[in-house]
Amino acid sequence: MKPSIGISEKHIEKSIQILSKIISNETVLYVKTRKAHWNISGESFMELHELFGKQYAITEKSIDILAERISKIGGKTIGTMNEFLENSDIQENPGKYPDKSELLMELINDHETIIKQIRKEIQEFDEKAKDVVSIDLLIKLLDEHETTAWTMRRYFK
Ligand SMILES: [Fe+2]
Repeated sequence: MKPSIGISEKHIEKSIQILSKIISNETVLYVKTRKAHWNISGESFMELHELFGKQYAITEKSIDILAERISKIGGKTIGTMNEFLENSDIQENPGKYPDKSELLMELINDHETIIKQIRKEIQEFDEKAKDVVSIDLLIKLLDEHETTAWTMRRYFK
């Protein structure tokens, strides 16, 4: 049954397109953060192991909220690794195990890429999708990424 929630068909389509892109980026970042949690070693091991654990738990929750948003507005939510990878701008690095600084820099860069995109997507939602609930969700997501990026940036002078 189609929802009747005061958003036009055209705007719903645009919302689904943007949300699908965001959950794809978040899912690839989620897997990358898990890899970091599993493979971090050396000085500050336990601190960073736990930090990455907290980060991917937050990302997992966000993915679920955004994916269910697609369903709530009447769309089908993508849910295969192929689709996530096809839709994502975040690059994986199979077989690479960078040291602590390089790993943190890579993750900071991924979060900052997503932060910049979310800012643009908020604008898109406002102008092309007229979906205020998604805007609200994205503002919260933006704050989460800014906090995470800030936390990791503090490991550098
Ligand atoms: Fe674990």
